[in-house]
Amino acid sequence: MRSRFKPLLRIFCFSMNYKNNPIGVFDSGIGGLTVANAIRKALPHETLIYFGDTAHMPYGDKSAEAIKYYSLKIAKFLQLMGCKAIVIACNTASSLAYQDVKDFLGETLPIMNVIDPVVAHIAQQGTYKNIGVIGTKATIKSAVYPKKLLPLTPNLVVKSLATPLLAPMIEEGFFENNISKTVINTYLSSSKLKNIEAIVLACTHYPLIQKEINQFYNGKIDILNTAHIVASHVKQQLLEKNLLSGTKTGKDQFFVSDKTTSFENSTRLFFGNKINLQQKNIWANNV
Ligand code: DGL
Repeated sequence: MRSRFKPLLRIFCFSMNYKNNPIGVFDSGIGGLTVANAIRKALPHETLIYFGDTAHMPYGDKSAEAIKYYSLKIAKFLQLMGCKAIVIACNTASSLAYQDVKDFLGETLPIMNVIDPVVAHIAQQGTYKNIGVIGTKATIKSAVYPKKLLPLTPNLVVKSLATPLLAPMIEEGFFENNISKTVINTYLSSSKLKNIEAIVLACTHYPLIQKEINQFYNGKIDILNTAHIVASHVKQQLLEKNLLSGTKTGKDQFFVSDKTTSFENSTRLFFGNKINLQQKNIWANNV
């Protein structure tokens, strides 16, 4: 009798423990830590495994093929680390590689991106007539926001502007100073962003300059901080899939493909706490 129930018991125990498995989060660098930070605040019982592809950043200037290749490798690594879900915490990778990652791994675990929850949020609001989107060259060139928004909100005008200097500027610690003010003001003064009622911060680095963007607009337009919108989406998805962890059992881990002191120093700005970064080479075939 006892032996007949053993396999069932094992499956039951496995599925109970599986909920405690980590959530994998990845970005081209350390910008995605703004999303990881929002997730940890919204879901304090979850364990996170973060991967920042610092060896290959910025993704914003890379080809679609390169971004897909890197993203698939990282997603596979996070799956091998036992992640129960993966969040692509990079607008550039979400624009160009989400479908490939989903096709490759989507049957085995939920794959989430940082664009769909923001698109759903804007469509739900339904109040905007003109909306601005700023992001990397690759994100803006992909036109992913207008492509996803227009079928849901046909009367909305999406005004997009590539702002490639912003991510490296932030990563170098240039924000809330004269240099960042000049760069931000020059970009936001562009005629391409005229008469907008809201702006999407379509790059995971930009929450760090949200205050300065708000100052530029004198608080008169809505600034959509995607990190918070994405964190609530992750919570909802895990709840619906019965994957929420009841208690935090593991330790958060943070991997980068190239570890430098400057990355280590910047992590506190993005995540709030000091982080112990581990260097990991995942590019060999057998990883
Ligand atoms: N964090 C990336 C994003 O959200 C931008 C940085 C990069 O170009 O790698 O698009």
